[in-house]
Formats: sequence, structure tokens, C-alpha cells
Amino acid sequence: MEERYLELIKIINEADYNYHTLDKPTITDQEYDSYLRELYNIEEAHPEIIRSDSPSHRAGGQVLDEFKKITHSIPMLSLSNVFNEEEIRQFDERIRKEGIDPKYVAELKIDGLSVSLNYKSGKLVSAATRGDGIVGEDITNNVKTIKTVPLTIKKPIDIEVRGEIYISKKMFESINADREKKGLDLFQNCRNLAAGSIRQLDSSIAASRKLDCWIYHLPNPEDYGIKTHFEALEFMKDLGFKVNPNNKLVNNVDELLEFIKEKGEKRDSLPYDIDGIVIKLNNLNEQKIMGFTAKYPRWATAYKFPAKEVLTKLEDIIFTVGRTGQITPNAVLSPVLVAGSTIRRATLHNEDYVKEKDLKIGDIVSIRKAGDVIPEVVERILERRTGTEKDFVMIENCPICGSRLVKKEGQVDYYCMNPMCDKRNIESLIHFVDRHAMNITGLGERIIEDFYNMGFIRNITDIYYLKKHAEDLVELEGFGNKSVNNLLEAIEKSKTNSLEKLIFAIGIEQVGEKTARVLARKFETMDNFMNASIDVLTNIQDIGGIIAQSIVDYFSKEENIKLIDELKSIGVNMIYTGEKIEEKEEFNDKTFVITGTLTNYSRDEAKRIIESYGGKVSDSVSKKTNVVIVGDNPGSKYDKAQKLGITIWNDEQVNDIFDKYK
Ligand code: IVH
Repeated sequence: MEERYLELIKIINEADYNYHTLDKPTITDQEYDSYLRELYNIEEAHPEIIRSDSPSHRAGGQVLDEFKKITHSIPMLSLSNVFNEEEIRQFDERIRKEGIDPKYVAELKIDGLSVSLNYKSGKLVSAATRGDGIVGEDITNNVKTIKTVPLTIKKPIDIEVRGEIYISKKMFESINADREKKGLDLFQNCRNLAAGSIRQLDSSIAASRKLDCWIYHLPNPEDYGIKTHFEALEFMKDLGFKVNPNNKLVNNVDELLEFIKEKGEKRDSLPYDIDGIVIKLNNLNEQKIMGFTAKYPRWATAYKFPAKEVLTKLEDIIFTVGRTGQITPNAVLSPVLVAGSTIRRATLHNEDYVKEKDLKIGDIVSIRKAGDVIPEVVERILERRTGTEKDFVMIENCPICGSRLVKKEGQVDYYCMNPMCDKRNIESLIHFVDRHAMNITGLGERIIEDFYNMGFIRNITDIYYLKKHAEDLVELEGFGNKSVNNLLEAIEKSKTNSLEKLIFAIGIEQVGEKTARVLARKFETMDNFMNASIDVLTNIQDIGGIIAQSIVDYFSKEENIKLIDELKSIGVNMIYTGEKIEEKEEFNDKTFVITGTLTNYSRDEAKRIIESYGGKVSDSVSKKTNVVIVGDNPGSKYDKAQKLGITIWNDEQVNDIFDKYK
């Protein structure tokens, strides 16, 4: 019996490999099913002999309490990015500068999540997510459900391989279609779905999602006498891993660019999502010479495809009301997949924007995701007009409260001026509790809306009196003692926020999070801030006339003064408790740009320090930039700084200057 059991494991694992990895079935479905049944029967009768490489694990079923942690033997790094030909050529130049004449392996950048697979004596023993790169989570049970991950490899060796778990576009569509029918939230894109499925404690969920896995990295090639990355890929393929057939060895940058162009054009016809091309130096000795920065290998990079445009129908234009009363037209689109996520809405900003783009309801429009995140209508396709499209008409009354809309002088936007407009009030409350504002967890948008409609929270101060309704709240569906307590605690805690949070939260027009921080640091108390004159305000770096006027206007209104007074009496903190600015000559009133990786400081740390000394950090280099800080592996900002003759501080100089004031 045991012999037959081992034989069945072998037959089924091989059949899975031929079918799923090679796409070349060797036995019929009926034969496969009968072998599987035979195997299950044996396992049911003799559970004590079940082996770790049994294909029965593919079905999932084990339910964990939590994922165990796994420390990676070698950190799992991420890749630096390049976005255009120039940056690709710079990457190549940096390698040539080291005296290397590089050949590259170009690979598809699969949009999924990376995984590390560990085999002992040829058997899969563990699988881990990347986590923070050092410690990941043990997802072995879920990974075993992936048919293309071999449970046994073709040589009885110890080996770690890494790759990407992903889900096909077809599975994504069908899972979402099913969820839509059931009224469940939809997955944003293939990557989210793959990641969400692999992080399930119940492995039968992962099994039902039909995940897949490409293998692309061998962390210890020298253990197997391997000299190039391309050889490593062949080696892993021969062991039974699924290695992407598109991988190509290219001889120079021009061949690389050709590969990128070709794959970019074929991207849509691939059955899975890719978001770029990974470029890896082929020779492993040369990889050693290039080495690593703190975060990335210097021998590889990822070219990211530009935003992708897709056609769809503009079904309608609807209007939303913001907290300031601002009216925004929004495109309602026929749902369409763009760069991995389904788009249904896109902002159209204002009336002028719609008119400039000459959009009509019913138009076929091209859309893309700006910065690959925010959906944007690019243009209407004139040739696709049929004559049945309807003109866009700007509304004249608030779609919520019906009051007449007003266009402020010199502005393109219309506003609902009714301070009692429900939607305005709700949006103001949502803004007040936001993570970036008072950060009251437990008061999500839905809950705010419900509490508003039920009369528990009609204005900002009501939030702090919510405890009076605790008994009613406990009775509500979805609430219980514990969640009500947590919520009330979060509200209490928000009273101790530093001043910048409150300044942002009260929603003064033109005062964003960054400006609020500048103001809080400068004035230190709400009283100082409230009483600041236009002149004092405009004298602050970064505060222009429009912001200053808006602040003065805000505090000229009695209801706003009353709000601050009430918050004060409730016990909400009105003092800046963050880091103080100590103006330092090298930093004060200067604008900095950081490019590349610094050895001793993360970007955020460096930024915080610069700001605490009175400087400002910006994202792009311009004539206004005073200093560009250049770390390891800098981007094109470095070249631009040199061209413009801007002062450059290298890593060492940064360390010296920062140390000086420590
Ligand atoms: S190589 C040191 N190759 O992209 C080697 N990564 O943005 C590191 N990815 O974390 C990875 N396809 O999750 C590599 N062919 C490929 C890839 C790939 C997708 C992912 C991977 C990585 C991320 C970096």
C-alpha cells in the first residue's frame, strides 16, 4: 500500500507539472481524477502516512490562527525604478563606469507579490512573503495550493528560490463578477487580489482563487556553480519551476530598448498583469562588483511602463459637494480595467475642464491613471460620436440642499453657500476626523454619515459629546460595548493632538496639511495664530496672499471663533507640541531636494531634520532649489542640479552638517 501511495504522489505531481507548468497534459482528466481519488482513499484510511509533498495539500483546508514569522536568510530587496530611455541609459552608464561591458537579462515585471520558497532535500518545506525584506510571514499552506509550485523538485537538493505570486486577468474578472453579484466589495486589481488571497488563514480560500507563480531569482547561485543569471533561470526551470518564457538575454542597451518596446505593445494580450520590465546584469561576478545600496541591488532596476490609456463610455456626469461647498462634476464611466484596476469614476474638476475637453454624455472617452493611481479622462474620441450624445449642462442648484450655486470671483468653481447643507456638514466632519487631521479611528465615512442622519453628530463639537449617547450607540447594529469604548477612547485621545492637526482639521480653505504644520510651528498656540495679521502671515515662507486672506476671513467669522472657544473648553489641546524649529544658517529659508539613498538617514528623517532647522524639502529641482542632497544611486535630479549649477551636498557632507547640530 505504501509503495502505491508513493507512486500515486509521483504520478499526480508529475501530471500537475505537465498540465500547469508545461501546459502539456499527459493524462486525461478522468485518469487524473481516479488517481486522486485513490490517493485520498489511502490518506483517509491511513492519515499517519500523509507526506508533506502529497498533492492533497493543494486543496487547502488547514486554518491557522496566525502566520508565523520567517527570517529571510538573505534580505529580500526591492528594485529601483527607471521611467524612460534616458534613465535606462544612465543605469547602463553607471555599470560601464565600473569597467563592465554589460549584457542584461530582460524580464517581465509581474504585478503580484514576491515569495521565497525553501526546499530541503528536494521537498518544499516553507514559503514566505517578503514582509519588510528581513522578516516575512509563513504562507506555506497557501503556497502549496499553487499548482505550479512544485512540492518536490527534480533533484534532492537544498535550495531557496524567489519569484512572484500572481493571479490571471481572467480569474480576477471572474472573481469580481461573482462578488458583484453577491454585493461584496470588489478587488481593486490583480495584485490586491493575489495579495489578499495569500494572506488568508484558511488555505482553502487561496486554493479557490487559483493563484500562480513565476520564479525569477536564485539568491545563492554560487552554491550550484552558476555563473550567470540566465543560467540560473535555466537551472530553476530544469528543477521544475515555472520560469517565464519571455525572459531574454540582450547584448546591449539598444536590444534592451527594443525588448521593452515590443513587450509594452504586447502587454494587453498577456493573460496576466505586468507593470514594467526588470533589467538584470547577467554576469554574476559583475553583479558582485556593482553590489547593493541600502535598499536596492545596483545591478538591476525596474523600468515602469507609462500610464496606459483605455477607451470606455462616459455614461453620465454627476455632481458632488465638498466640505467647502465646492461642486465637482464627476464622470460616471462604463466599468473598465486600466493598469490592473477597475475604473468607474473620474473627477472632471470643474465646468471649464469639461468644456475644454468638449465632453458630452454618451461619448467614448480615453482614460488613464495619472501617476498610475488617479483615474483621469484624457479626451473624447470624436470619430466615435453618433449624434445621440447629450450636451453637458452645469447645474445651478446644489444637488443636495437645492440652494442656488455661486461662482466666486476669479474662480472656476461653483459653491453651495448654504452652511446648513447636509453634505457640506458631513464632509467637514469626515475631514475633521481624518487620519491626517484629528485622526479619530473608528469614525469612518459611513459611520459619520449614519451618526449625522441619526442626529448624534451634527457638528464638530458633537463629536466630543458623543459619550452622552453611549447607551444608544451600543444598541446599534455593528456596534457593541467594545467598539463604542474604543471609539470614545479615540475621541478622548484626539484632544491631545499637537496644534497642526487641529489647524488642518477645522478646514480653513487653502490650508492643507503642510501649511497647517508651517503655521503651527510658527505660532505655537492657537491664540497667536488666530490673532495673526495679514502682514505677519504673508511674511512667513510658503504662505502667500491667498492663504493669508483665507485665514483672516476664517477667523473674522463669529461661528468659527465660537467653535475654537468650545473646543478649548472641551479640553482640546491648542498648543504645538511637535518639534520646534531651531533656525540654522545652512537650512533656514532654503529649499532642498533629496535624490538617491543616504547612508545614515531615510528620506523622511532627512526631511524632518531639514524642516526642524527651518528649511523646506521639495520634490523637483528648479532654479529656486538652493541645495541638492545626493545619495547613492541618484536619479536625473542630480544631472539637473549640475546643469543648473546648484550647490550639491554629498552623503558625507550631509552627515557632517547634520552631526554639527545634533
Ligand atoms: S527581481 C534582487 N524580477 O517587483 C531581485 N522582481 O519592484 C529582486 N517583480 O520586489 C527582484 N517581476 O516583487 C524581480 N522578473 C522579476 C519581477 C520582480 C516582478 C517584483 C518583485 C520585486 C518588485 C520590485
